[in-house]
Amino acid sequence: MQADITELKKKAAAHAVGLIASGMVVGLGHGSTAIHAVRFLAERLKSGEIKNVLCIPCSLQVEEEALQSGMPLTTFEKHPLMDITIDGADEVDIELNLIKGGGGALLREKIVAQASRRVVIVLDESKCSPFLGKQRHLPVEIVPFGWNTHVFFLESLGAKIRIRRNADKSLYHTDQGNLIADCNFNEILNPRELAAKIKTHAGVVEHGLFLDLATDVVIAGAGGVRHLKRDRPAPASRGDIE
Ligand code: A5P
Repeated sequence: MQADITELKKKAAAHAVGLIASGMVVGLGHGSTAIHAVRFLAERLKSGEIKNVLCIPCSLQVEEEALQSGMPLTTFEKHPLMDITIDGADEVDIELNLIKGGGGALLREKIVAQASRRVVIVLDESKCSPFLGKQRHLPVEIVPFGWNTHVFFLESLGAKIRIRRNADKSLYHTDQGNLIADCNFNEILNPRELAAKIKTHAGVVEHGLFLDLATDVVIAGAGGVRHLKRDRPAPASRGDIE
């Protein structure tokens, strides 16, 4: 079963990497599916099939993977706007909204997604749900200062909370040094309303609801690869600084 899921993740990632053309600035997502995409992209670059691609990774872990694969990296200072980002997700609904942050990189993932003209989400079909929250808890990144009060706040919105921990039971810290509260809201019937409420509390850095951000969702399943698309306004930009 695990092997099947890995194969599906690879199929979705390979399809998405086919959308990358020479000269593009590419956001590299976090998680096992996104790592497959990094490796496929590295192969396309090595073979010379495409060239002059520059990448911005969503996490320190992906940055390391990208450097090991010899991928040329760039920065937001040089390229505040990206052509395309390929990233995974934990759950997707029928409107192509997402829960992300299972890997803890939700803040950087959202920053990169918001700075990308095209956001291509790659996943296997087990992650499709009629409502977000049905399969996965919602990760919310909170600052360590006063974290108990942030937990009380999230509980007041109806969630059961678990603070994320490492395998050795120590507190998990994000790349920014923050904590993650994994929030069980059960099915989230109104994700927009919930997202707005969560953001009212000082101490909440970001949540894993990615609403209206994906332009493309590539779903690999037993019946093949499905590529769903949706229009989204382009991110505001002053233009790339060279
Ligand atoms: C990372 O923070 C998440 O948003 C990932 O994109 C998500 O956990 C997907 O992981 P897999 O591709 O490993 O299933």
